[in-house]
Amino acid sequence: MLTGRRVTVVVPTYREAENLPILLDRIARVRQDTGLELDVLIMDDDSKDGSAELVQRRGEAWVALITRTSDRGLSPAVLDGMRRAGGDVLVCMDADLSHPPEALPDLLRALDEGADFVIGSRYVEGGSTSDDWGLLRWINSRVATLLARPFTSARDPMAGFFALRRTTFERGRELNPIGYKIGLELIVKCGCERVVEKPIHFEDRVHGESKLTLRQQLLYLQHLRRLFIFKFGVWSHLLQFLVVGALGTVVNLAVVTALLWAGLTARPAILAGIAVSVGFNFVLNRRFSFSYARQGSWLRQLLGFVAASSIGAAINYGVAVAVLAARADLPPQVAALFGIAAGTAFNFVANRYLVFRTKHVRPAAAR
Ligand code: GDD
Ligand code: MN
Repeated sequence: MLTGRRVTVVVPTYREAENLPILLDRIARVRQDTGLELDVLIMDDDSKDGSAELVQRRGEAWVALITRTSDRGLSPAVLDGMRRAGGDVLVCMDADLSHPPEALPDLLRALDEGADFVIGSRYVEGGSTSDDWGLLRWINSRVATLLARPFTSARDPMAGFFALRRTTFERGRELNPIGYKIGLELIVKCGCERVVEKPIHFEDRVHGESKLTLRQQLLYLQHLRRLFIFKFGVWSHLLQFLVVGALGTVVNLAVVTALLWAGLTARPAILAGIAVSVGFNFVLNRRFSFSYARQGSWLRQLLGFVAASSIGAAINYGVAVAVLAARADLPPQVAALFGIAAGTAFNFVANRYLVFRTKHVRPAAAR
């Protein structure tokens, strides 16, 4: 059942000369045992550690190595490889022997059974990882997985071991390979609905070292944000606006509280809270919530934002004062909260549709 179509295994590498011979031997055995029509495409970022020579020396017709000198990085290397691959089925796996090639037939069978995307998974029944993973990396991996929940219910969406059909890959729109999580990127952007996980034992690397750095983890947060915008469109702007607003609220309340402490009365304290949070919110909204309009004039947007905020602030202040007047027993912070809620609703609509208009980013055809 596993024969009759070509499989290309894309292997991104950077300094894996020690691991490559073992990996290729193990894949060779899988080829032999299953009769799979399988080739390997090693995407090497110019390691200069003998990897290229090694592959050449082995002279296996089903193994190719491409030396990449530009656009380096794990994810770009994988995408590059998948675009060049000749197979009808594309597999991605690490070179460091963390991913067992012996699981390949399992992954391919799941595709045959109708899956869009198959993960060699550590976290499903029967899957496991080597125990000497530090507690920190374990927590790290779990938190990263949790953050991916809005996009997929897969238990191990971070995995670098996965398979998909070429036709699925070609559906991918706006593939943007920042960071390490190319599998997650493909699940979301290729619109994979049937994601299936097959258990693997994830072996810790023996030779060489992991290239997963703190920088990669920060990039992951950026990656999640982009996936979020891709998937949720306008709602993502509202959500970011609300997150900024929530942070602004904390700033606002901190200022109000500090000024009350310093002996000011409620009204000027609330006014000052509004003023400080307007500045804070502008900077964050321009950078995040409405980042699509970042090419627009900074000054024009600031003026627009302040104008919108002034009306919003007037509404905010009016509502807060009205609440204070109606319920003198309430602490001024509660009155301020009511004001903030009313002001926020007005602000989002005004900013989204007037100050940070999308008109100039809409594709010409959609106009
Ligand atoms: N071409 C290329 N360029 N390959 C790279 C680069 C690069 O800049 N950086 C790493 N690689 C290759 C490595 O040589 C290895 O084959 C594979 O990508 C994974 O790199 P590791 O450094 O071993 O990553 P890891 O073990 O920390 O992370 C793996 O597990 C994670 C889940 O815990 C990867 O599979 C990740 O994708 C996965 O999220
Ligand atoms: Mn590894």
